[in-house]
Amino acid sequence: MRRVGFVALVLVAGVVGGVAGWRAAWLSSAIAAATFVLLAGGLWWVRNRLNAVRKHQRSTYRLIESLLRQQKSLHRHQKAVAAAVSAAGRAQRAETRHAHRSVAKAVGGRTNALAKKIEHAAEQEADRSRRQADRMFRQLEALQNLYQLIRVRRAMPPSRGWALSPDVLLSYVEEILRGEPRTVLECGSGASTVWAAYAVELLGSGRVVALEHDQEFAERTRTTLAGHGLADVADVRLAPIAPIDVPAGTWQWYDTAALHDLHDIDLVLIDGPPKPTHRQARYPAVPVLRDRLAPGAVLLLDDADRPDERAILHRWRSEWPELTWNKLPHEKGTARLVVPRA
Ligand SMILES: C[S@@+](CC[C@H](N)C(=O)[O-])C[C@H]1O[C@@H](n2cnc3c(N)ncnc32)[C@H](O)[C@@H]1O
Repeated sequence: MRRVGFVALVLVAGVVGGVAGWRAAWLSSAIAAATFVLLAGGLWWVRNRLNAVRKHQRSTYRLIESLLRQQKSLHRHQKAVAAAVSAAGRAQRAETRHAHRSVAKAVGGRTNALAKKIEHAAEQEADRSRRQADRMFRQLEALQNLYQLIRVRRAMPPSRGWALSPDVLLSYVEEILRGEPRTVLECGSGASTVWAAYAVELLGSGRVVALEHDQEFAERTRTTLAGHGLADVADVRLAPIAPIDVPAGTWQWYDTAALHDLHDIDLVLIDGPPKPTHRQARYPAVPVLRDRLAPGAVLLLDDADRPDERAILHRWRSEWPELTWNKLPHEKGTARLVVPRA
């Protein structure tokens, strides 16, 4: 339509130019017509250029709009990515906090358990140390009491360990001083023999006989007794370990030949033979000695808390129910058995 309009305009311009030329002169009208035609052509060209520019402008606008849309979408996308990254960061931080808390809880739990164990072990150790200190104190007290009762002439052999502990030695010496025995028999010689000899010497009458299966220990005890001037009070007899028949079977015990002259024994200290000699090694003492004991005789069994000695006591009590007995509160346990008087 526009093009038709424009053609019409050019025709009108040509007609106008022609009319003008007819009116003036044909040359002038030709120039005028040409001028109009040129003018119309120029206008046509300018209009076309303007149209092209407008078209280009429109496509540029569309492009800009599209770019703006893309930018917006990109921006939205960026925001979404940023939100996702921030959410992931939060999740990670929460995860890390949770992991830290779990680790702290687990480690804390273990640390607490460990601390409790250490505390418990420390308490047990402290208890053990207290008990040990108490035991030691009682032994020192017993030793002091022993030296109050007995005035010794030389240094005494060590007590405790293989020898009797001071608490048993004190009971043993007190038993002698109280019971005034004529005959004291020891199964197993050593420090106990020396203390017993001093106690008997203090009484002014009586004797100590000690059975010793080992030649070397027999000699050692004899030498110690002689050094203390007690050789006449105590007699250490070598009595090698030999088979012996007792109600419970055949045992290994001191050779009974060493007992040939012993009757009416008033006090027996059972501290041998040593454990490895035989199972329940000290058991034969009662079956072998029973008929050689005086009425009211006292038997002291050392180490009575050991399983072997508990089994021995059990046997004795069932085989000789007439024996009365009690336990003395010593560190290694001592059983005191008494033969009835009648
Ligand atoms: C328990 S001990 C007798 C200790 C004794 N009644 C005393 O108070 O010293 C029993 C036997 O062990 C032996 N004996 C003693 N001291 C020993 C030692 N230090 N090492 C190994 N055997 C020992 C001796 O033959 C002793 O007759």
